[in-house]
Amino acid sequence: MTDTRDETTATAAASGQTATERFRESGRVGAAEISTERVNLLASRVIKAVNDTVLEEKVTYDEYNALKAWLIRVGEDGEWPLFLDVWIEHSVEQVANENRHGSQGSIEGPYYVPDAPVQQSPTKLPMREDEPGTPLLFRGRVTNVAGDPLPDAKIEIWHADDLGFYSQFAPGLPEWNLRATVPVEPDGQFHIDTMQPAPYQIPTDGACGALIKAAGWHAWRPAHIHLKVSAPEHQLITTQLYFTGDAHISDDIASAVKESLILDPQPRSDDQGKEVTYDFVLDPAE
Ligand code: DHB
Ligand code: FE
Repeated sequence: MTDTRDETTATAAASGQTATERFRESGRVGAAEISTERVNLLASRVIKAVNDTVLEEKVTYDEYNALKAWLIRVGEDGEWPLFLDVWIEHSVEQVANENRHGSQGSIEGPYYVPDAPVQQSPTKLPMREDEPGTPLLFRGRVTNVAGDPLPDAKIEIWHADDLGFYSQFAPGLPEWNLRATVPVEPDGQFHIDTMQPAPYQIPTDGACGALIKAAGWHAWRPAHIHLKVSAPEHQLITTQLYFTGDAHISDDIASAVKESLILDPQPRSDDQGKEVTYDFVLDPAE
């Protein structure tokens, strides 16, 4: 497949290394002590699963060495965050949110940046003068599970541009392009003007891309908007919203699409692009 990505030559190594550094700085490393019992249990199960695969599939030394070389390369390319968020995070998210009654969650992915500029709703996300794409008015309301509006809610929103690139991870984009922290209106409503993102191809020129190619898979995620919605005394939800009809809605490489998270934007009455409504429901704090 020809790679048409070109924000000004984004590379897997660059976005991977940035994602790795951001994770190191995120305060999540060593944030919780994992007990010896859990490490023993989980590490033993993972090692056993790999050994079972080797024995059942009669893995050869050539295959073992290919794996060794590939694992080394994942680290060199800084692609552990990408690898884990594409192939593993969806299960962790499923476990984390299995008891929620409000809006469904989805994976965070490797490209979240905290502390994006605060822009009170109604607002337009930071974007270039000539930001390409279809304008999208994204609006809705944040409520509790009883349907009462949460006037102190805020929405962190970030997404790729019309070429599938994320600011701060691909070169040539303004620092906070298509990223903001949006406090909702007094009645819990929000109105956010943005540009509809494009389907996203995970970097193809690094270790993850090499695996995808060697396995004959594709590298696509459907177009998506990332969100973290929170309010005092409520559980924060990290989620993503998708677009109906997207070519990759049924075969997301990151397995992160859920039916309730698919939007169906309609043409705006003033013909200025599209608009769509999505209401968030937050569970009470535990
Ligand atoms: C990856 C990228 C994303 O934008 C996302 O939402 C999930 C995973 C990745 O490249 O790993
Ligand atoms: Fe993403």
